[in-house]
Amino acid sequence: MRRLMVAGNWKMHGTRASVAELIEGLRNQVLPSGVEVAVFPPCLYASQVIDGLKGKSIAVGAQNSAVEPLQGALTGEISPSQLVDAGCTLVLVGHSERRQIMGEGDELLNRKFAAAQACGLTPVLCVGETLEQREAGKTLEVVGRQLGSIIDELGIGAFVNAVVAYEPVWAIGTGLTASPQQAQEVHAAIRAQLAVENAEVAQGVRLLYGGSVKAANAAELFGMPDIDGGLIGGASLNADEFGAICRAAGN
Ligand code: 13P
Repeated sequence: MRRLMVAGNWKMHGTRASVAELIEGLRNQVLPSGVEVAVFPPCLYASQVIDGLKGKSIAVGAQNSAVEPLQGALTGEISPSQLVDAGCTLVLVGHSERRQIMGEGDELLNRKFAAAQACGLTPVLCVGETLEQREAGKTLEVVGRQLGSIIDELGIGAFVNAVVAYEPVWAIGTGLTASPQQAQEVHAAIRAQLAVENAEVAQGVRLLYGGSVKAANAAELFGMPDIDGGLIGGASLNADEFGAICRAAGN
């Protein structure tokens, strides 16, 4: 049985003051014990969040990390080893905003994924198609290529300690959610692609859905057989809403 996971990607939001409020709000949430809960604050606030959430079982991750595992001369980057030192346990790899706006491609992301794992971080690999790609009937091809890049380069063993998040680009921050059936179709394809390499690994890996998840639609999405939780953007900035999504995963 896979343990469901609900993770909040705060993206480039927050100030010290608003982060303090969000921490306080999260501390007040009743969280289901069967669900792994995580937040991904901007790196600048990671220590504040880690300290503020002490004693609450919420993991903290980073939204990005360097291609090299260890500290060194790489201006502006933060190494996976530094994230571990700060207390992070997870890192997002290949969020669509980084693929699209920062131009991060599969080759770079393979390195980031490997560097993160080398330091003991759990990578959360984000995959997903644009609206144009969906309309052209290319969803499974695009997602299959993004996933296949890691499998080809690092092997199926890389997914023993990794999470995959399917985030259709057209559903991110738009209020448009993939229907549970649309999401399930892609999740099943992701699991099938992993199963070709190793059925046991495929059964164990958590596949999160992301894209306009709210408390109101979470239960239906999480009820699908291959959806093992969610990666939440906007709604994770509201502690009560995020808590409600976590509780939806617990039911
Ligand atoms: P929204 O929940 O705001 O659509 O964002 C999803 C996302 O990109 C999470 O990584």
